[in-house]
Amino acid sequence: MASTDLSISDLRCEYLTDPVGIDERNPRLSWTLESDRRGVRQTAYRVLVASAPALLEQGGGDLWDSGRVETEQTAHVVYGGRPLVSRDVCVWRVEVWDDIETFVSSPAARWTMGLLSRADWTARWVAADPEINRRDPGACAPTWTEPGTPALFRREFELPAPARRATVYVSARGLFELRINGRRISDDVFSPEWTDYEKRIHYRTYDVTALLTAGANALAATLGDGWWSGYVGWQETRGRYGSLENSLVVQLEVELADGTRFDVGTDSSWRCNTGPILLSDFMRGEVYDARREHPGWDLPGHAEARWLPALEVAPPAASLVAQRSDPVRVMEIVEPVSTAVIGPRVLLLDLGQNISGWIRLSVSAPAGTRVTLRHGERLAADGTLYTENLRRAKATDVYVCRGGARETWEPRFTFHGFQYVELSTSDSSTDAAITGCVVRSALSPAGSFTCSHPGVNRLWLNGLWSQRDTFLSVPTDCPQRDERLGWTGDAQVFLRTATYNMDVAAFMTKWMVDVEDAQTPDGVFPDTAPRLREGPNFTGLDGLAGAAGWADAGIIIPWTLWRVYGDSRIIERHWAAMTAWLDCLERANPDGLRVNGLGNNYGDWLCLPPDTAFRAHSPMKFLLATAYWADDAAKMSRMAVEIGRRDEARRFKAVFERVRAAFQREYVRADGELAVDTQTAYLLALAMDLLPATARPRAVERLVANIAALDWHPSTGFVGISHLNPVLTQNGRADVAYRLLLREDYPSWLYPVRHGATTIWERWNGWTEKDGFFNPSMNSFNHCSLGSIGEWLFRHVAGIELDPDVPGFRRFILQPHPGGGLSSAAAAYRTMNGEIRSEWRRSGAEFTWRVTVPPNTSARIFIPSDPSTVPTESGHPLHSSPGLRSAGRSGCYCVCHAPAGSYVFESLWRSDDIPLVPPS
Ligand code: BGC
Repeated sequence: MASTDLSISDLRCEYLTDPVGIDERNPRLSWTLESDRRGVRQTAYRVLVASAPALLEQGGGDLWDSGRVETEQTAHVVYGGRPLVSRDVCVWRVEVWDDIETFVSSPAARWTMGLLSRADWTARWVAADPEINRRDPGACAPTWTEPGTPALFRREFELPAPARRATVYVSARGLFELRINGRRISDDVFSPEWTDYEKRIHYRTYDVTALLTAGANALAATLGDGWWSGYVGWQETRGRYGSLENSLVVQLEVELADGTRFDVGTDSSWRCNTGPILLSDFMRGEVYDARREHPGWDLPGHAEARWLPALEVAPPAASLVAQRSDPVRVMEIVEPVSTAVIGPRVLLLDLGQNISGWIRLSVSAPAGTRVTLRHGERLAADGTLYTENLRRAKATDVYVCRGGARETWEPRFTFHGFQYVELSTSDSSTDAAITGCVVRSALSPAGSFTCSHPGVNRLWLNGLWSQRDTFLSVPTDCPQRDERLGWTGDAQVFLRTATYNMDVAAFMTKWMVDVEDAQTPDGVFPDTAPRLREGPNFTGLDGLAGAAGWADAGIIIPWTLWRVYGDSRIIERHWAAMTAWLDCLERANPDGLRVNGLGNNYGDWLCLPPDTAFRAHSPMKFLLATAYWADDAAKMSRMAVEIGRRDEARRFKAVFERVRAAFQREYVRADGELAVDTQTAYLLALAMDLLPATARPRAVERLVANIAALDWHPSTGFVGISHLNPVLTQNGRADVAYRLLLREDYPSWLYPVRHGATTIWERWNGWTEKDGFFNPSMNSFNHCSLGSIGEWLFRHVAGIELDPDVPGFRRFILQPHPGGGLSSAAAAYRTMNGEIRSEWRRSGAEFTWRVTVPPNTSARIFIPSDPSTVPTESGHPLHSSPGLRSAGRSGCYCVCHAPAGSYVFESLWRSDDIPLVPPS
């Protein structure tokens, strides 16, 4: 059949584009279809995987030829070819037939396999000889004596012939930066990333063919501290996650033009030394003395007289695994919006945006000039840099100038959370300029949102920025103070918003491994992952597990990734861990009420009034814990069905019913009111289906009365917040949701926006006109949780919603809830199946709505329209619009089923208050 506009794009393997060095033996392949033809569907595919591009071009799949498979499936197709082995190169493409037998073939994509067994590692682990510090007075000068001095390693070698293919495998206990012949091998930073080091350590694989030459070559590495040995979390000590000993392994494998192999690996023939970085630590910052550089150290021919042999050390006992998520990189550049002179040789610069990352400095000054950069999120009342809320994070970088030509520098192994920079210099002739570098996991954007209210747009953007600033290797709580931990509660509360903003599939899949690695032997999921480790100076941390709403992330993450990305493998992989958690909840709480804590209980963390969460035995804490338990069981039951575990589905359904019954006995009064009258109590009871059907209307009334009693302000903490507007909307009170959204006085979402916030604050009362800054002991201006309103903007304002029965947006719902006086809203959201769009506009009673349903998907579309009216599509009555199938009316919506395509609906609609009709 002649080709149409059908094409195939976005070929991915295990969610990643052309990944190098994976260790998944049965990787899953995905693609998306592009076409403007209405109703386009894939009817069959054929995947071809070859060991070389030429073979694929000739039409062969020597590794796998799936043959023609009659299916609409375009995501998570499991590789089913020859068993994969270390170093395999897999070049692939997919052929697709659509519903009118159009045939198209995709461009080629690829993945390569990493080192799948320990025996593949022939290089030795090396550490710096501590003698390098003693031999080097510069490194030990009193002002510089700090732990955390990165070491340099180098090795030269002669390549007898040009390289046909060169691959380097690198890992470290610590962080490495590797250079070959003077060039960095990639833009990735902070490698290898954070894991539970007792269980697994990442290695990274890079194709470095283009960096090598026949003849002399040089490998040069800098080894810093990072999560392994630096300060992380509260700064009692270093080495909390690993040890104080950093070490490195580099294995370069070269295939020469004549087919022979040439390998170079770390061993005692490598040389080590100190260098210009005198200190580099996540919390403390970096001190760099450019006068101490070794010019040419990363090129062949460098004199090694003052370098010592590296020491071979034992390899780690933990497994070496390929990193399966997107690397950390500099992702954005932000220029200062203002510069003020605030003292002799002191400038204060404002980036206009609270970011996570570092400053790139451009400076011209005499040799030895010391430029000090201090970082902060806010300014104090007197206009100076406010740093109290950083607690013990020093967040100070120092650059000592080389002198001569203009110098450019940026730090290597530190990052800060900041909007303002105080730059001071020891020499008044200094000419300095700065640029902000935003550093985070390189996740691609998924969605965008905009509407007619500038404050709401900024609110959404603030949520996006907080995600940009905190999704750094793991979803951390904040980027600025001495914490930056993978708090599980924060992550689960924000997760749906996170999925709308960015493609977090690979990132969260990796982190779920950390969550399981941190599970206690009894089955208790952690409050932070990687788990905060005990140590000689930090005991009593056993409690950092099991918190209601935090530990339950162990269920919520796989659930959400399955729902959003259609990924059922994540359920299978973590099934045993999830079951162990449910079992241990049951063992500890035989009566169906989760009153026996298995660790902490933070309650509805940071709710208002502020002290509620801290009361030791508050009934709210037990209510909240019991609600999460019931919800865990309900999710488990549904997930069990998905992976074909029918018996367990029944078993968990029974657990849900039992816990729900206990919840009702304990907390639900005869009239439907709850024993605990907080917004979050009602939100959880409604969201998690814990009430008898007859009690739901009364609960909604009570929730609204609670909000009204607070003069239409929110009072929930982290736990309730993500449910607030969705629950109100799903229960017919979108009007109240909008009222909350649009409040600008304290406490509200727009209050920080009105006061210049560029990220989401940790707490409602982080700063108020009345009291100024909240206590700095816990007051971050960059925390995602309260930004979980983003989910509602996509799901209910723009109306892009999951179908409760079909995961992965293969079939979905489009149902906007215009309100709050907004005259327009628009969202685009890239799913595994392509981009969904929803853009509505109101002008008087005229409602115009443009939507896109991606190829190979379908949607149930709810068009807001007055009951007596009939909407049109592209000017035609709905029933005569090709492909649309009318499904009657549902309240103020006219409902239809739509296959793939772009549509323009027009309707008459006057009401601002559409009661939701739950999808049937
Ligand atoms: C973190 C939170 C976290 C909490 C646990 C805080 O210090 O910043 O975001 O969830 O502790 O209660």
